[in-house]
Amino acid sequence: MSAYKRIVVLTGAGLSAESGLSTFRDKGGIWAKHRIEDVATPEAFARDPDKVLEFYNTRRKSAAGVKSNAAHEALARLEKEHPGEVLTVTQNIDPLHEMAGTRRLIHMHGEILKKLCAHCGAKEAWENDLSTELVCHSCKKAGGMRPDVVWFGEMPYQMEEIARALGACDLFISIGTSGTVYPAAGFVMDARGIGAHTVELNLEPSEGATLFAQAIHGKATEIVPAFVDELL
Ligand code: OAD
Repeated sequence: MSAYKRIVVLTGAGLSAESGLSTFRDKGGIWAKHRIEDVATPEAFARDPDKVLEFYNTRRKSAAGVKSNAAHEALARLEKEHPGEVLTVTQNIDPLHEMAGTRRLIHMHGEILKKLCAHCGAKEAWENDLSTELVCHSCKKAGGMRPDVVWFGEMPYQMEEIARALGACDLFISIGTSGTVYPAAGFVMDARGIGAHTVELNLEPSEGATLFAQAIHGKATEIVPAFVDELL
């Protein structure tokens, strides 16, 4: 049985790749087809809201009908069966962790299946396309409805809760992320700083691979279940 008492798991797009969702920085990934500054910043939304909403409408559609994979399921099992605490922090905006059964979950970059009113901040579950004509149910204004996702230049969600968990963990596991986007890319340093064991599980060495005490490389659906089995 695992000797670890408090585990923090950080996940990225590589975890959902085998469910059929594109990653960002792999060959042919999302950022090879779109410029971040055109579709994923508050300035882009102010300049050309239709373009930004269309980008996320397409991503919402591609997430429809997608199923969690063996790696998401193994992480849900870790949360359920591990005798200590497990917090999963995901950079992914898809709903696959919760579909697999993970309950203690932070979507630090938001959720594609929610909308957020830029005028009043109201949030609501939303599975359809967004458009500039849409009126907010709360403040009744049009033109402000956006996906509830964190854009470049915005603060990721629940950072205080994440910092608390990182400051108390004894195992930090980073899965399927290139380690290029901060603050998430810096979590390994926070965990190391308090003496936690750090492990990277990724298809290939990430940008920050040398920062981890242990690394296992391979497909998430193979290496994550095997790692969880070993932990439990
Ligand atoms: P990236 O696309 O940057 O990195 C995905 C990582 O997953 C790469 O290191 C791949 O090698 C790895 N990978 C690919 N397929 C895999 C598989 N089957 N099994 C295991 N690993 C695999 O995605 P993220 O690191 O999640 O933010 O990107 C971080 C953030 O950048 C995203 O949340 C998004 C993006 O811009 C915002 O939009 C704010």
